[in-house]
Amino acid sequence: MKIDILLGLQWGDEGKGKIVDALSPDYDIIARFQGGPNAGHSLEFNDVKHVLHLIPSGIFHPGKLNVIGNGVVIDPAVFMKEILELGPSVEELTKRLVISTRANLILPSHRILDAAYEYQKGKSKIGSTLKGIGPAYTDKTGRNGLRVGDILRKDFKKIYNDHLGIHLSILKNYDYKFDLAEFEKGWFEGVELLKKFRLINTEYLVNDLSSSGKKILAEGAQGTMLDVDFGSYPYVTSSNTISAGACTGLGVSPKLIGEIFGIFKAYCTRVGSGPFPTELNDETGNTLRNVGREFGSTTGRPRRCGWLDLPALKYSIMINGITQLFMTKADVLSGIKTIRVCTSYEVDGKECTELPFDTDAAIVPVYTEIPGWEEDITAARDFMDLPAALKNYIEYIEKHTGVPVTMVSVGPDREETIFRS
Ligand code: GDP
Ligand code: IMO
Ligand code: MG
Repeated sequence: MKIDILLGLQWGDEGKGKIVDALSPDYDIIARFQGGPNAGHSLEFNDVKHVLHLIPSGIFHPGKLNVIGNGVVIDPAVFMKEILELGPSVEELTKRLVISTRANLILPSHRILDAAYEYQKGKSKIGSTLKGIGPAYTDKTGRNGLRVGDILRKDFKKIYNDHLGIHLSILKNYDYKFDLAEFEKGWFEGVELLKKFRLINTEYLVNDLSSSGKKILAEGAQGTMLDVDFGSYPYVTSSNTISAGACTGLGVSPKLIGEIFGIFKAYCTRVGSGPFPTELNDETGNTLRNVGREFGSTTGRPRRCGWLDLPALKYSIMINGITQLFMTKADVLSGIKTIRVCTSYEVDGKECTELPFDTDAAIVPVYTEIPGWEEDITAARDFMDLPAALKNYIEYIEKHTGVPVTMVSVGPDREETIFRS
């Protein structure tokens, strides 16, 4: 059976966790392929909200297998905290979750390096979640990383200390004070907990399961505009968040990929620094933040809010080969009289639809106005029940992207989801 992918088309936090959880009953396996604990994927059901960082969003469904693929970077301390707070027992979770031996580890000193690099950047900082993502991927591609499979080696402590030594010598060049013991808290216990799980070469498992007809959903983290190659570099994360990342992050051929679901908010948000052409620093921006509860799931930072950016959305659709669009947070726009959509940019006085290479370029968004709707739509469960103005907004997006919107999310709960037949 082909492998489907669900990934974010904007700057992250599009609602991936909620929708992967809602789709999980249709799949046998849910697999994360990149990113790490910088992700914060929220799920709500039975009036309880859960936030997942490393664990795939199918974990609450008994009988489903969750995979952390080789493309993910794992911090054992975060992993332990998450596992112990999930609800199901560790024994039960070891049945539901397997982890790639090839996934790289985030060391406590990666987190310190992340903080030191950001501190040194001052005003031009990336706005990292400070989870050690950049330094861990740097060590991976620099061929200096430690991997999950290494924790089973007898000399693991020694190799850990060797890596730590290198990091400490780099840190001597930075005027940055830190308490290593504080960062190491829980890390080695996390390593012991990891050993209770099946640590395997997940690329064989995923390919075998796909061959035997099982349905696999690959769950992206972050969003396309944060991709290390195609996002607003350097204000990006350190992995390939795009559909191609699912192949490298799970060890599957592009031939095996089926549907590629692209998820986007009915407006835009961004956490951290970097260009955001449609950002609203006004009352409407505050309304979107307050009504949409736009505060980071990982860091609690207020998210920057703005109108939907069509050139960016079309770019993401192109890079990923999106086959179906999923729109979330449509309910947040209820009550806004006139919705604006950016259709092109003005850069140095010239109209264009391409995202400029230069992240310092002064981009002025060119807008089209679309009538809004007053109705509260959170109780709607059928596409036909949605207000005509929202359907018109959706049709507008479909017309300009050429991709059908097959799912509309009208609230954070699992149930507040409309799949269009
Ligand atoms: P992710 O990182 O893509 O999984 O997204 P986050 O969980 O970080 O952020 C999305 C936020 O919006 C979470 O608080 C979700 O509970 C919430 N959410 C998801 N879909 C909807 C929706 O359709 N409407 C509303 N109001 N909230 C939603
Ligand atoms: P999910 O999976 C939103 C942002 C950070 C920062 C930049 C680099 O929940 O959508 P990093 O920690 O990777 O060094 O940060 O990327 N960022 C996210 N923004 N959602 C995320 O994940 C993010 N993960 C990283 O805010 O701007
Ligand atoms: Mg998030």
